[in-house]
Amino acid sequence: MCRVHPESCRWGCGNQCAHPAPNGTSNEYFEDITSRMLSRRGLLRGGVAAAGLFVLSTSSVARSAKALSGTATEAATAGVTKGLTFSPISLNGEDKVVAPAGYTSEILIRWGDPLFLDPGTGFEFGAQSAAQQERQFGYNNDWMGFIPLAENRALLCVNHEYTNPELMFKGYSADAPTRDQVDYELAAHGFSVVHLERHWKRGWRYTMGAWHNRRITGTSTTRLTGPPAGHPLVKTSADPDGFTVLGMLNNCSAGITPWGTVLTCEENFNQYFANNDFNPDAKKKAAHSRYGLPAKASERKWERFYSRFDLSQEPNEPFRFGWVVEVDPHDPGSLPRKRTALGRFKHEAATTVLARDGRAVVYSGDDERFDYMYKFVSAGKANTEDRAANIDLLDSGTLYVAKFSDNGTGTWIPLVWGQNGLTPGNGFNDQGEVCIKTRLAADLVGATKMDRPEDIQTNPVNGKVYAVMTNNTQRGTSGKAPVDAANPRVENRHGHIIELAPTGGDHASTTFEWGLFLVCGDPAVDKGTYFGGFDPALVSPISSPDNIAFDNAGNLWISTDGQTNTFKRNDGVYAVPVEGPERGFVRQFFSGVPGGETAALILSDTNDTLFVSIQHPAEGSTLDKPSSTFPDGKEPRPSVVFVMKDGGGVIGS
Ligand code: FEO
Ligand code: CA
Ligand code: CA
Repeated sequence: MCRVHPESCRWGCGNQCAHPAPNGTSNEYFEDITSRMLSRRGLLRGGVAAAGLFVLSTSSVARSAKALSGTATEAATAGVTKGLTFSPISLNGEDKVVAPAGYTSEILIRWGDPLFLDPGTGFEFGAQSAAQQERQFGYNNDWMGFIPLAENRALLCVNHEYTNPELMFKGYSADAPTRDQVDYELAAHGFSVVHLERHWKRGWRYTMGAWHNRRITGTSTTRLTGPPAGHPLVKTSADPDGFTVLGMLNNCSAGITPWGTVLTCEENFNQYFANNDFNPDAKKKAAHSRYGLPAKASERKWERFYSRFDLSQEPNEPFRFGWVVEVDPHDPGSLPRKRTALGRFKHEAATTVLARDGRAVVYSGDDERFDYMYKFVSAGKANTEDRAANIDLLDSGTLYVAKFSDNGTGTWIPLVWGQNGLTPGNGFNDQGEVCIKTRLAADLVGATKMDRPEDIQTNPVNGKVYAVMTNNTQRGTSGKAPVDAANPRVENRHGHIIELAPTGGDHASTTFEWGLFLVCGDPAVDKGTYFGGFDPALVSPISSPDNIAFDNAGNLWISTDGQTNTFKRNDGVYAVPVEGPERGFVRQFFSGVPGGETAALILSDTNDTLFVSIQHPAEGSTLDKPSSTFPDGKEPRPSVVFVMKDGGGVIGS
């Protein structure tokens, strides 16, 4: 989002930057708080660089980096690094993926590759149907999950976030899309489960026709569970009972639960709907406005073919999107379940970790400028030995929203009907309505406005939580948080990463401590970057962090979404230690292709393979003159690549 090309904005996030940020409340801005923290501690002189003093206290964090000199490459090759020893690459603008010396990248699977053995599902650009697409790998692969099955066998679960029709169809007209094109796009959205096999020497290959292989699309049957299931606000003319929804849309990121299912997240669902100005119900219209639904026609114009996308005809249909969806990749016949107790917003991801007492805790960010961070704590305890035993686990529990305080602490405020003003007088008649209108509930309880919360992940080694704020170019602009000399992150172009420590190390705790881990940018150009205390002169420039993962040593891996805009270079994958003398030493490991986002990264369980999702290559250009012909030197196709060390071994070491 907030990318450089109109097509990115149109299809990726529904032009969210072109509209006013939908959160018009007077809740505090995150930068207000960080500014005050700096001020209170008398650290203004150093600007954000002084933020190193309001990181979370950790005795293991040393600041030895100042003794180093030279570039990241020189530092790494001089043998000063431990754990991560690869030679960093540089920002790149070429139409090829790049990995460090000693590593090889290969294509694993592309948009349109057949998943099943039925005839006629091979891919031929320009000669495709929706029926074929339903049997093929979908478009714009985003999040990936790696689930080992046995030695050399695994499942790769993949989200298909959105479509770029101008790059999918020759002669596409944005003013006059056809029904066939719309049907094809619905079939290209959703989710894939793909069986992988590892071959000696050749690395990973996907298994066509494997029993686990599966596609879920924008028209697949899904079920609503939790408090809003059957609620009057989710009943439509096609589903008068309010339990069954056609499809899931804009699934961006996701997470694997400790019991082996996937929580896949609907993000910018607003863009698929149209005509809120003609919504006959004023209260529903206001709720939809808070989620940024279009007042008039949508950019995609799907409402011309399907009335469910037209708010003048079906004002409740959008209430059935914006959820976390639980999918069991081990059972291709299982029904995807929209777990509504986890709240409805533009879910970036959903990361599940167990509390001390065994309850499931799910962290999730709402990726919109000035929106919030959430977590859900289940009422019951998880059973990690039996997937079926958790079938209702995420339907009962407490949803919380984060409030950051100016002393480095924070609280999780419960969004529970009847508490904190969530009452009929304020428009909330039951818990179902609190879940459906989560953003409005969070507004009411005074949550902290954030700089577009993207991924939130827990570090399995140090137990802390890392929350990615990708960027927010409206921060500090007219009518927003005031400019503060101590905090130069006004018009935050490059984003930052926050580190949280739950009180007592228990993720069910309702309080936490927090600090900044990274304030991104190019230290050679941008004022106020911060790299965990490490000398910024030594690190790789990084902008717009988006999705993250941890290796088995606890190092943080980051993929970016926006360097085409900020650096005029391709997005990439970076690695950075979070503990020890190299805490904050960011090094670039991988570079994507022009117009393409490195939308997700995942390491295999043994850490000997890195999978990278190359989304929307050539976005912002046209089929006539594509900025990228990745992966085959022909029409651009979103693809998954994998990287392995030549001769084998742990990635990055
Ligand atoms: Fe689809 Fe927030 O990235
Ligand atoms: Ca993302
Ligand atoms: Ca993103």
